[in-house]
Amino acid sequence: MALNDASTAQEALFVKSTVDNSLLKEKVQGYDWSQGLDYKKLFNSFTHTGFQATNFGLAVEEINRMIECRNLPIPTDKYIDTEDDFTTIKNNCTIFLGYTSNMVSSGIRETIKFLVQHKLVDCIVTTAGGIEEDFIKCLAPTFLGDFNLEGRMLREKGINRIGNLLVPNDNYCLFEQWVLPIFDQMLIEQKGKEILWTPSKLISRLGQEINNEDSIYYWAYKNKIPVFCPGLTDGSIGDMLFLHTFRNAGLVLDIIQDVRRINLMAIKAVNNGMIILGGGIIKHHICNANLMKNGADFAVFVNTATEYDGSDSGARPDEAKSWGKIKKDANPVKIYGEATLIFPLLVAQTFAKSFFKET
Ligand SMILES: NC(=O)c1ccc[n+]([C@@H]2O[C@H](COP(=O)([O-])OP(=O)(O)OC[C@H]3O[C@@H](n4cnc5c(N)ncnc54)[C@H](O)[C@@H]3O)[C@@H](O)[C@H]2O)c1
Repeated sequence: MALNDASTAQEALFVKSTVDNSLLKEKVQGYDWSQGLDYKKLFNSFTHTGFQATNFGLAVEEINRMIECRNLPIPTDKYIDTEDDFTTIKNNCTIFLGYTSNMVSSGIRETIKFLVQHKLVDCIVTTAGGIEEDFIKCLAPTFLGDFNLEGRMLREKGINRIGNLLVPNDNYCLFEQWVLPIFDQMLIEQKGKEILWTPSKLISRLGQEINNEDSIYYWAYKNKIPVFCPGLTDGSIGDMLFLHTFRNAGLVLDIIQDVRRINLMAIKAVNNGMIILGGGIIKHHICNANLMKNGADFAVFVNTATEYDGSDSGARPDEAKSWGKIKKDANPVKIYGEATLIFPLLVAQTFAKSFFKET
């Protein structure tokens, strides 16, 4: 009886492996510390480490493929959109970068600014906070705080909390003083020159007005990189647009012109790449534009969302393939993780490497 039990257990424990070379290809191997501290080798070891380190390594490969493709000349027979300077196709791979508002509240703003300043991406999509926080930081700083600071105490002191960051309420007063006269001027131009403003044109105008090299949108204006914000009214900038209706009513922003601009950019791109930090409207807006092209050629998602609730934020790239938002034969990557940790390292291993090698 006891012997039978042992052999049953042995059979279960030692089921024979089928040698399947398609499955058992690459050995798991972490960083070899006997080499000393070598960050280059450390990052290179991520691909074979497993879990999200492997996804990081795969995302580095995917972004480097995007950059390689972008650096190739645009085929002469390809139609290049000349509808406007901002949406004209300028590279062989049009890279769409999306990020949630909190990225701009955090120090990820400086990494995004690097990409925009040096024309390393072609199109941006963000939410309202992702616009205003950039301008507000040019007027007054955001501070480090603590996730555990009490809301009631902060409210009494007029300090707002974003995670472990603190923004004094006075910063928004400075923003109001800066932005409302610009809206006044835009209204004059709307009436006098019959300019039909859109969220992207407003963002470009604010980038011009801020005239500050610390700003993402100053560089986007200078380098003619369009910035789309389909939910522009859901933030302090929306509060300002609301207040402006009492001060000087009549300013109009046309969202249809903007959806035409971004969708045409995706359709006319020679090749399409997507890098999306976070979820919500920014993720879907880029994916939806790329659906118009029957899918992006390259894609990297970085977010903390999971798919079990059926959310678009949590949807893996494979779900986007089912909709035609990513090409069927593409090799997209999702890194599950928090972007402030991951994105600077991703940029270091991709855009920054090729940029600093060239310059
Ligand atoms: N600083 C701010 O966050 C701020 C300021 C003003 C207005 N708002 C408004 O709040 C609304 C919601 O913001 P949102 O749509 O930008 O995104 P969100 O903050 O609601 O995030 C959407 C999803 O993105 C993912 N995500 C967010 N931060 C992440 C991170 N650091 N790393 C990885 N994944 C992350 C999460 O899955 C999250 O559920 C917007 O309309 C925005 O304008 C936000």
